[in-house]
Amino acid sequence: MKGRSMGFPTHRLRRLRQNEAIRGLVRESRLAPSNFILPLFVVPGNKIKREIASLPGNYHLSIDCLVEEVIAARDLGISAILLFGVPETRDEQASNAYAPRGIVQEAVRALKSTVPDLLVITDVCPCEYTLNGHCGIIRNGYLDNDASLELISRITLSHAEAGCDMVAPASMLDGQIQAMRHVLDTHGFHRLPIMAYSVKFASKLYDPFFKEGTQSTVAFGDKRTHQMDFSNSDEAMREIALDIDEGADIIMVKPALFYLDVVYRAKQEFKMPLAVYDVSGEYSMIDAAARLGRLDRDAIMMEALTCMKRAGADIIITYFAKRAAELLHGGERSAHVQRELPRQELVAK
Ligand code: PBG
Ligand code: ZN
Repeated sequence: MKGRSMGFPTHRLRRLRQNEAIRGLVRESRLAPSNFILPLFVVPGNKIKREIASLPGNYHLSIDCLVEEVIAARDLGISAILLFGVPETRDEQASNAYAPRGIVQEAVRALKSTVPDLLVITDVCPCEYTLNGHCGIIRNGYLDNDASLELISRITLSHAEAGCDMVAPASMLDGQIQAMRHVLDTHGFHRLPIMAYSVKFASKLYDPFFKEGTQSTVAFGDKRTHQMDFSNSDEAMREIALDIDEGADIIMVKPALFYLDVVYRAKQEFKMPLAVYDVSGEYSMIDAAARLGRLDRDAIMMEALTCMKRAGADIIITYFAKRAAELLHGGERSAHVQRELPRQELVAK
């Protein structure tokens, strides 16, 4: 064999790239609408469908409009949503987060009675409901871990009692999965899965979500005493290992795009069902660049989402879910578009 080159010209990798049919045969990662979870924001009131300025194409929805929105999403093949509530009032104890007639609890009941086959996942974190925008109880200026666990447990139970299909703890408190699993199991909800925000980095990519999505403000300090330092990856693996040990059914890395090395490691090391959260800032960056005519919105969106899958994500939580599902319905040819941006669009609007 020596001397007979096993490289070029025997091997020409371009043979399998000649056209879309061949590329389709050998494609290694594929997106499907069933991989997507659509985040939705529910607000009190009636007939409200207000576009969120920082997340164009996403809305604040009153329960009636929320039902319409999930039916439209389901018709595109999206069968899971992640629900966030924007409450009318906030207080120190985040009492609206666990109120039996709170906005999320009411929305869950309405969704399960009108669209029973939809998977309703609820975000469990006090920060949309606290006056100070923090993810739990603050004592002497510091997020009190164990006092906050009690609050998380109450919220969890209220979501389960309302009938949600899965809970997604977002606070990055130590022991939160154990606390939630315990409260669920002792109240007959042993079948309710937990999708843990296991690795949530303290990222500025959440700003569009926080400022205009849930309209909360962090009154003092920041979230770096509980969310992870974005410099770290070994620590991310420890977070995941502990969550699995405490009973997480699905693990998550958040944000997605800047953190695909962590996504890859998480899949390789744990072989667990893995979700990524393609967060508001990631959506905003692509949307803004497309508005400036610098990037092709659809093409960049499909590239970004496919790369999350390639890195190891099974599940993608994304504000692009509906548009991506629409393109996927046109078949892979339409999902793998590569077209020239028209000249005139390359001008800032
Ligand atoms: C917490 C929560 C946040 C996001 C999801 N759940 C905000 C935060 O922790 O600051 C961010 C999601 C996004 O940016 O799209 N309830
Ligand atoms: Zn929070």
